[in-house]
Amino acid sequence: MTHRHLLRMSDLTLFDIMEILALADQMKFELKRGLTRRTLEGKTLGMIFSKASTRTRVSFETGIFQLGGHSVCLTPADAQFGRGEPIEDTANVLSRYVDGVMIRTFAQKDVEDFAKYGSIPVINGLTDDEHPCQILADLMTIREHLATLAGLTVCWVGDGNNVCASLISGALTCGMRVRVACPEGYEPRAEVLAEAKKNPDFALLRDPREAAEGANVVFTDVFASMGQEDDARKRLRDFEGYQVNMELLSLCAENAIVQHCLPAHRGEEISAEAFAAHAGAIYDEAENRLHAQKAVMSLLMGDVV
Ligand code: CP
Ligand code: NVA
Repeated sequence: MTHRHLLRMSDLTLFDIMEILALADQMKFELKRGLTRRTLEGKTLGMIFSKASTRTRVSFETGIFQLGGHSVCLTPADAQFGRGEPIEDTANVLSRYVDGVMIRTFAQKDVEDFAKYGSIPVINGLTDDEHPCQILADLMTIREHLATLAGLTVCWVGDGNNVCASLISGALTCGMRVRVACPEGYEPRAEVLAEAKKNPDFALLRDPREAAEGANVVFTDVFASMGQEDDARKRLRDFEGYQVNMELLSLCAENAIVQHCLPAHRGEEISAEAFAAHAGAIYDEAENRLHAQKAVMSLLMGDVV
């Protein structure tokens, strides 16, 4: 991999993404046959969770265990950073104990500061700005289901949030066409849009139907992300008409798949029927977090063999 850390999706070149996905595919294939590589024998991953998690927590913890290593989980309730210890000190000290750290938190700057002050690889496990591990798993899933990435059209319907930002970068890097449909005021962050708009394969739209027309992959995510709970009722109103449902999906290409990072709110961003019809690919997507992250950890923290 080009960088020592995975802080944002745009840290990854096309070569990096292909290297990660190739290793992830191989690790998945091997695991299904009872084989595991011990690329992180004796190594420890620190995991910092300042937000809730099911998939990220379990897939990282299980992943490093399968690779021969082990993990230590810290939350603000049980660690000194929750009582105000500076990131600089936490990063310096953890760097002397563990071999890499995965961080899920609010501010992107905190993840970047950890990388700046520490001396170990840092993996972003979701911030308010980005969710790169999710998009690696999603790209892996799309390739499994549709055999390719380049040339496919992906559409995002809903909030231009952290997952959307990482998707835009990752999908454009892989040569996909990206359409984002969101209500006014819920567009991706200005710097994400400025970068994306340099690419003719990117379109920002208002109309979900226009975005879904002929699309191969439809993405959505919750209307209110972690930390936006107080806004949830207003968001529900503002996102009216932005539900992924069977009617919207009828506009897509034949064999189109739906991706949702989960947790999903059926009846809000996705109808129960649409979720059920595409649950296979959505659960594959969740599973692939394990394989994609094992590849990332092996490449950043270990000697890949
Ligand atoms: N998709 C995802 O990151 O799930 P968790 O919040 O459960 O980790
Ligand atoms: N956008 C969501 C993703 C959860 C995995 C959030 O940040 O809460």
